[in-house]
Amino acid sequence: MKIAVFAGDGIGPEVTQEAVRVLEALGLPDLELIAGDVGAAAWRKHGHPLPEATLEIARSVGGILFGAVGDFECDTLERHLRPEQAILGLRKELGLFANLRPARVFAGLEDLTTLRPEVAAAIDLLIVRELNGDVYFGEKGMRMTPDGRRKGYDVMSYAEDEVRRIAHVGFRAAMGRGKKLCSVDKANVLETSQLWRDVVIEVAAEYPQVELSHMYVDNCAMQLVKNPGQFDVIVTGNLFGDILSDQASMCVGSIGLLASASLSEGTLGLYEPIHGSAPDIAGKGIANPMATILSAAMLLRHSFGLEAQAVRIETAVSKALADGIRGGDLGGSAGTREIGDAVLARL
Ligand code: IPM
Ligand code: MG
Repeated sequence: MKIAVFAGDGIGPEVTQEAVRVLEALGLPDLELIAGDVGAAAWRKHGHPLPEATLEIARSVGGILFGAVGDFECDTLERHLRPEQAILGLRKELGLFANLRPARVFAGLEDLTTLRPEVAAAIDLLIVRELNGDVYFGEKGMRMTPDGRRKGYDVMSYAEDEVRRIAHVGFRAAMGRGKKLCSVDKANVLETSQLWRDVVIEVAAEYPQVELSHMYVDNCAMQLVKNPGQFDVIVTGNLFGDILSDQASMCVGSIGLLASASLSEGTLGLYEPIHGSAPDIAGKGIANPMATILSAAMLLRHSFGLEAQAVRIETAVSKALADGIRGGDLGGSAGTREIGDAVLARL
């Protein structure tokens, strides 16, 4: 059972360390953890945010536990050397096209959101975000116009097969939950979105039990704060999913609690907290490791089929929260190690 651990930058190493302790405590037979360098940390050591050696490790394992990448010092580097290229490169190279970002309010934490507690309490949704296409991976560049002005461009496009395969992920996810799927696009303006909508409607014919709706992305941003309880599964493109998933995480109250999975057509997946590297608190031992610990649970579930072990971790985290263990992100004072210990004690 091989798992790669790519801790990365900022608080990445601190939070992944706690998730590793949890994985090790489960007593899984043949567990082998393989560390690899990514992000600014890899750039400092090897001159590249995603060294070939790291990619090789990634290709040799069943699942990848990922911390975070990002470092202000790298903001002026050429784009292909910036830390973010590590995660974008892994997504593309490994065909990790389906990003699952669940958001729900943990019992007892209803007061921590910026929404009214009764509105937030109803949140239990899953964002299925396409990860291999869209404006993220289209042709991009900077050119000079004939009259000497600089012009930046990033091309948005989706091919129908790319839409079809993520639509299937969305419908299947809905089948396993509340059987409601909301496809989010901007079909009133964008041709890419019109194709998206047409293809989603075609795929819907294979899932008659799922109630499909469509929503423009601007309206979805509004509905997420107005009445987030209406959503079960949201399926959307790369850019809209990036933005909406951050928004959904804040509706829940803490970005420090949300895990994510990036899945390929096979069982290989990459699992990471949805928060970033948080350089302002890095190295202080105060980051909340729960999102990474919950990502490890998703890894066991989706890449190794270990549902019972995944639930064991998730239950331990819920219990720790119910017992009042709170990191700084939740207005408490528990440190990274202390939270890790609390989860371990409840496994
Ligand atoms: C995310 C992040 C990444 C993205 C960055 C770090 C490239 O914001 O995973 O949501 O934009 O996809
Ligand atoms: Mg993002």
